[in-house]
Amino acid sequence: MNRLVVVSNRVADLTRTAQSGGLAVGLADSLRQRGGVWMGWDGQTLKYEDQPEPRIRKIGTVTQATIPLTEQDYSEYYLGFANSVLWPLFHYRLDLVEYKTVFLDGYRRVNAKFADALTSILQPDDIIWIHDYHLIPLAAELRQRGCTQRIGFFLHIPFPPPEIVAAVPRHRWLVECLLEFDVIGFQTNTDRGNLQHYVEDHLGCRMEADGRIKIGEREVIAGCYPIGIDVDSFVEMAERPNDEVNIETQRREILGRKQIIGVDRLDYTKGLPDRLRAFARLLELYPEMRKSVALMQIATPTREEVEAYVEIRTELEALSGAINGRFADFNWTPVRYIHGIVPRDALAALFRASQVGFVTPLRDGMNLVAKEYVAAQAAENPGVLVLSKFAGAAEELHEALIVNPYDVDDMARNLCRALTMPLEERQERQRALMKRIRKHDAKDWLNAFMAALEKGETKHAA
Ligand code: G6P
Repeated sequence: MNRLVVVSNRVADLTRTAQSGGLAVGLADSLRQRGGVWMGWDGQTLKYEDQPEPRIRKIGTVTQATIPLTEQDYSEYYLGFANSVLWPLFHYRLDLVEYKTVFLDGYRRVNAKFADALTSILQPDDIIWIHDYHLIPLAAELRQRGCTQRIGFFLHIPFPPPEIVAAVPRHRWLVECLLEFDVIGFQTNTDRGNLQHYVEDHLGCRMEADGRIKIGEREVIAGCYPIGIDVDSFVEMAERPNDEVNIETQRREILGRKQIIGVDRLDYTKGLPDRLRAFARLLELYPEMRKSVALMQIATPTREEVEAYVEIRTELEALSGAINGRFADFNWTPVRYIHGIVPRDALAALFRASQVGFVTPLRDGMNLVAKEYVAAQAAENPGVLVLSKFAGAAEELHEALIVNPYDVDDMARNLCRALTMPLEERQERQRALMKRIRKHDAKDWLNAFMAALEKGETKHAA
């Protein structure tokens, strides 16, 4: 088996289990199984340029190779082009795009820096797999340095329709860079279809039904490979007793109260304000629910130097305060809003102890929290997943209650339905959902993508 070299902007801390959902978790689950090298940014920012030699560290089956960024890189590439241009745009939020020419310069410079660092550790038989919107030009940079290995790319976030992509400065260049990869992976068929429309409208290329695109002498495969989780390890984590969560759950059970849970990075794409409004609407529409249900919303701090993230935090704090001010009683707090990081094992226990998983992004590549919530449920008395139709996961998880995250009343009605759903229906939905998350788990994701990258297979691409 060839050595697998994975590259992403951020590498997970494989010695800790603090995260939930997202790229780092999905990738860590898959990479641990196959083993290989994981290269990325070490999270440090330096005042001045340093040697691009990566720092090497072996953790179990994975060798991590990391490099620092300069403050200028951080500001222009990470905060700038990646998170103030591509992130909002690819999530259909043109209104939040902030562009400066230096952002694009920084983006190209850092991709060149990654290419230099990577070239120093590559071996001729390596298979290279690059992840996410930060590193779209990396294959082109590597080819310029003489790299001939197969290179794949996976986009963890949505790929929007051509009219939106066209708002990216130098969008044609960006998509041409994407086409330098041998395999381009998307989370959903919608995303892949959007690339097809772009290449047909703007580049005059054709994408075949099996995902092949011919570019001169080369052939690129565009496929749909929905990311998954390591189901068994999450089930095991959720079944492990967690004293703190158990005490709290028992107290709630004595009071006959149910819990709705939301866990997200504090990002404007996650639909948090309307989620809170939907919970308030539930209490308005169904007054009998008051005192018998609470919402626990865990929001992990993220990208706090970007203005849009400061605004969403302020809005959310004001909203949860207002809902509590309006509905709370001396012995019942309707919203528990936690702005912080909760370890993954505690989250698994919290998911299991919550009667509703409330996952309502306005737009999301996949959303692994939805899959984690399903994995954590007890088969004999499962909770109900309420899921946004705009999460990639909704293309698969049909047995969730699918809602429109822009329609507060629709979400409130479905919350009520979830909270009052008969046991038999909950069990039936849970069985079907479990089957689905097992079918598309972390291992399947890795194998399907690798089959395309190593053997040129297109059976998953179409
Ligand atoms: C999403 C992106 C990832 C990113 C993660 C955390 O899941 O798809 O690429 O790593 O968010 O964001 P951060 O900016 O902290 O890396």
